Amino acid sequence: MKQMIIHGGKPLQGDVWIGGAKNSTVALIPASILSRTPVTLEGVPRIADVANLMDLLSEMDVHCDFGETALRIDPENIKMSPLPAGKIKSLRASYYFMGALLGRFGKAVVGFPGGDDIGPRPIDQHIKGFEALGASVKNENDQIIITAPEDGLHGAKIHLKMPSVGATMNIIMASVTAQGQTIIENAAKEPEIIDLATFLNNMGAVIRGAGTDSIRIEGVDMLKAQIPHTIIPDRIEAGTYVSLAACIGNGIRIHNIIEEHLDSYLAKVEEMGVVIDADEDSLYVYPAGDLKMVQVKTNVYPGFATDLQQPITPLLLTAKLGEGIVIDNIYPKRNGHIPQLQKMGADIKVEDNIILAHPTKQLHGAKVTAGEIRAGACLMIAGLMASGTTVIDKAGNILRGYDRVQEKLRQLGADVTIKDDPSEPDILDNAWC
Ligand code: EPU
Repeated sequence: MKQMIIHGGKPLQGDVWIGGAKNSTVALIPASILSRTPVTLEGVPRIADVANLMDLLSEMDVHCDFGETALRIDPENIKMSPLPAGKIKSLRASYYFMGALLGRFGKAVVGFPGGDDIGPRPIDQHIKGFEALGASVKNENDQIIITAPEDGLHGAKIHLKMPSVGATMNIIMASVTAQGQTIIENAAKEPEIIDLATFLNNMGAVIRGAGTDSIRIEGVDMLKAQIPHTIIPDRIEAGTYVSLAACIGNGIRIHNIIEEHLDSYLAKVEEMGVVIDADEDSLYVYPAGDLKMVQVKTNVYPGFATDLQQPITPLLLTAKLGEGIVIDNIYPKRNGHIPQLQKMGADIKVEDNIILAHPTKQLHGAKVTAGEIRAGACLMIAGLMASGTTVIDKAGNILRGYDRVQEKLRQLGADVTIKDDPSEPDILDNAWC
């Protein structure tokens, strides 16, 4: 296990560059096996999830070569193999191998995606989609066995009960090579969906309407990657640095962003009184003055992202007056960061799944635990703001999603060290993201 040790209270300044989007990357890597030719992904973040997905690919004889930020994936000699357990449990996004294997081989045997400790995350909409395409789905010994009919998958009209990111991506991957047309209604509209569609269309797929709630896919025989694909910047990493900059920054420029992807987040931060200058692909966050409390309600894109409710929470604590309210409509029980913040002296509580934050003069260092990636991001910001030393246990959860985080924070002037914690086994704790 990893620990992050922060000697807090130092004002941070300078420049930080955002990596490629984790939630695109973890779909694009499995989707690469749909190609008959080698794939190059550029702007790949250096995060633990990428390493785990590369290990899974190697189990299928898919060779990967990861340079500075370019990942070359060669699926030419891929062998269809079951992915029952082990690494598959370490990241939830390994469920994308269901759609990708089904699209490539007409069969997928994949371990049930890992559990979590903060509320249910069913995959019924993924399964419903595969079944609508004609596949049979069995759940045996903690693994899901998905089999296309003998004459292959066929297009279908699929109406999702809710606009699920994972189900939309999985159905796209399964249906790109199905016979005929597939229509996904009530599809998720997140920028990562558009990124996946662009990637697949450049390999010969025919996907229209990604980014709207109705996506149409015309099945094709096979896909072949011909040009490198540059992954979109990570809007959640960017939002995390905006919050950090507003909490403890002395002027921070955040590079490689697509501002539009952050619209609702920036609107909320600006409503608090944070001053931000935007240019073509960067944001400059001024040192914050007196801030106002706000109410945050998460929603599907283009609403306020659930993955940014934890990173914004430390900022609420810096407001001068009033009560801040956070309601997570996507994952109502995603509030494991609150008891940890309390250990650091935060005046904050949860009532009926609603987070209530009050002005807190000064956080102090404490030993806390990052139960999942975004809780970890929240505690990291709190640790940078706090006086004294903060030790974040299970910091491996931060490394799952935050590209080169120690290097980036040090470049801004932070006193941060990530080290192995020999008292804990080296496994990830849950597969929340
Ligand atoms: N849902 C169902 N049934 C399904 C699928 C989803 O009931 O079959 C529910 C979920 O329980 C949830 C809602 O629908 O309440 C939305 O879930 P969605 O499927 O959109 O989430 P996901 O695809 O499992 C991705 C990200 C999450 C992010 C959510 C929401 C990846 C790998 N994960 O999860 O990222 O919070 O979308 O935007 O892309 C993170 O990065 O920290 C993280 C958790």
